Amino acid sequence: MSKLWGGRFTKETNKLVEQYTASISFDQQLASEDITGSLAHVAMLGKCGILTPSEVNTITEGLHAVQQKMTNGNANFKIEDEDIHMNIERMLIEEIGPVGGKLHTGRSRNDQVATDMHLYLRRHVVHFVQLLSDLQRALVQQAEQNMDTILPGYTHLQRAQPILFSHHLLAYVAMLQRDIERLMDSYKRINTMPLGAGALAGTTFPIDRHYTASLLHFDHLYENSIDAVSDRDFIVEFLADASLIMLHLSRLSEELVLWSSTEFSFIELDDAFCTGSSIMPQKKNPDVPELVRGKTGRVYGHLMGLLTLLKSLPLAYNKDMQEDKEGMFDTVQTLQGALQLFAPMIATMKVNKTNMMKAVREDYSNATDIADYLVNKGLPFRAAHEVIGKIVLYCIENKKYLLDLTLEEYKQFNVLFEKDIFVALQPENVVNARDMHGGTAKKRVSQAIEQVKLCIEKSDTWVKEHTIT
Ligand code: ARG
Repeated sequence: MSKLWGGRFTKETNKLVEQYTASISFDQQLASEDITGSLAHVAMLGKCGILTPSEVNTITEGLHAVQQKMTNGNANFKIEDEDIHMNIERMLIEEIGPVGGKLHTGRSRNDQVATDMHLYLRRHVVHFVQLLSDLQRALVQQAEQNMDTILPGYTHLQRAQPILFSHHLLAYVAMLQRDIERLMDSYKRINTMPLGAGALAGTTFPIDRHYTASLLHFDHLYENSIDAVSDRDFIVEFLADASLIMLHLSRLSEELVLWSSTEFSFIELDDAFCTGSSIMPQKKNPDVPELVRGKTGRVYGHLMGLLTLLKSLPLAYNKDMQEDKEGMFDTVQTLQGALQLFAPMIATMKVNKTNMMKAVREDYSNATDIADYLVNKGLPFRAAHEVIGKIVLYCIENKKYLLDLTLEEYKQFNVLFEKDIFVALQPENVVNARDMHGGTAKKRVSQAIEQVKLCIEKSDTWVKEHTIT
């Protein structure tokens, strides 16, 4: 069969050109969005008197039949038909005859493909908000179970100050909350309809874009037809949001890998989320967080790829833009894979409270608190810092920790020390002394958990309100 656009041509397309320019191998993933868009378009053509009711019925039934074929795996996608749009149109014409050719009235593949991608991302963004809030729930659950678990907090990967494990987990919950809010915000721009823009200038047919938008549950229309078909900002934005999500997951991944090493032994990931070695029988490897860490790179790559693709591209549609899809599909798949695994992996993770506490007892992470102690007794902080530095050095040289020193030893460094220094130095007290908004004191962390639970509830409601069936 000749090409749908074959009229102007006198020669067959070179086979290699056909293969090089075709996108059907990957844009098949837009098949159901393409049908959804076409169903609304044809209904609008009917409503506006551009097609007769019987033509609308025939085309609508035909589109359902094509959809059915695709669902049953009976669709015969052909590379000669280039992309998903022309494959579906050809199958429609095979199904119902030449009347199928009326579907493309008042439309171009340029506004069609953009619409498909808006529909596709809209669906996935809502799902990602759901997956992110599931992960928050798993983290909060662990946080609640670890309200008495203290570990050294790190800076420079050196033990810094004791913190509640819950507080540490809530830091990730906060990052994920920003990720959720970014996705929710992007939804406004994703849920904007390009359809009706035609190739770039609009159409001479008396179409009703508002009607099509209402059928497709789009909240907004692109206001400028040229912008409508040229814009891929919404995909760039999604890839940037996805990059940040992967960045956050990769930081958590890194910590899970470190914490599950024998050297740390702070946590143990469930057997179901680890893999073994083909040679070393003792091994239990944290492959999931390692792979998430590794796959972060490809998502950044897709962001950079699309930014570069769009840079300096003249308006409106250019074939270059066909390259916007694979990175987007791969990002959706990569993100979905990671998020799906993370929530159950966190939920089933065992936390080794004893080892965390041992690490706190066998370090100097309560040193700042001795300084604060002296400050409370009237010494300037800088002077106190100097005194404690000397005490720590003394401890290191004498193989002792701060809690091992006697009051007499303390007094040799400064007369302001009293018996209550030993109370101030207890890890629980060190943690609970950080009793300010956003601090690690148990009371503050409990309040933070309640706040976070409200956010999770809000996200769940948002997901329900934005799920289009
Ligand atoms: N497969 C094309 C793409 O994804 C569809 C739009 C084609 N438009 C055109 N004028 N050739 O970009």
